[in-house]
Amino acid sequence: MQNSSLVVKPARYTTDSAFDWLYPERIQQLSKRHWTPMSVARKSAQFLANGPGKKVLDIGSGVGKFCILGGISFPHVNFYGVEQREELYHLSLEAREAANVQNVDFIHANFTQIDLDAYDNFYFYNSFFENIDEGDKIDHDIECSASLYVYYSRFLCRALDKKPGGTRLVTFHSLENEVPTSYQVVDVSPDLQLKMWIKR
Ligand SMILES: C[S@@+](CC[C@H](N)C(=O)[O-])C[C@H]1O[C@@H](n2cnc3c(N)ncnc32)[C@H](O)[C@@H]1O
Repeated sequence: MQNSSLVVKPARYTTDSAFDWLYPERIQQLSKRHWTPMSVARKSAQFLANGPGKKVLDIGSGVGKFCILGGISFPHVNFYGVEQREELYHLSLEAREAANVQNVDFIHANFTQIDLDAYDNFYFYNSFFENIDEGDKIDHDIECSASLYVYYSRFLCRALDKKPGGTRLVTFHSLENEVPTSYQVVDVSPDLQLKMWIKR
């Protein structure tokens, strides 16, 4: 018989700065601008975790903050993140180990290279904006251009449009170029930055 005192539960985090301690200082400093705030991650994950065994994909998962917080709060759902920057991908794996959460996984790839049909619901924190933004970048290691912004937005829009009715999407700070007209807003935050969508 298993000794329940030996089962180590995932850590619980009460503030963004407590969570951000999972990462090196340079990554902590990027948090306010580039990583999802804890309250937004939990609210979004709740909307996307609409059934046991559902697969939720974060498109551009950074250092894994959304997925790890979602995985801790909703152990019956699987959270995946796809991230193009190798360093951030490795940091997300390390943070997952440190947080001791089992139902979370990360993929190192450009999102255009993976099978989006394998996932039920999607989270999107304006990942393509770096292509048209001259301001604070995560780093300068990735090629950015306005044409890539258009290419990625159209690619994602087409993929989301092909998903079955009932597919859920959360956008945070999005210009909405990646959201097909077949998705209907069902909830919006007072500042209009966080939107929950369901495909008709
Ligand atoms: C604003 S950050 C959000 C990170 C994470 N979703 C979160 O909320 O904490 C956007 C991330 O998307 C990644 N990204 C941008 N374009 C991508 C692409 N085409 N494929 C995979 N990742 C991408 C960036 O490298 C960056 O880490």
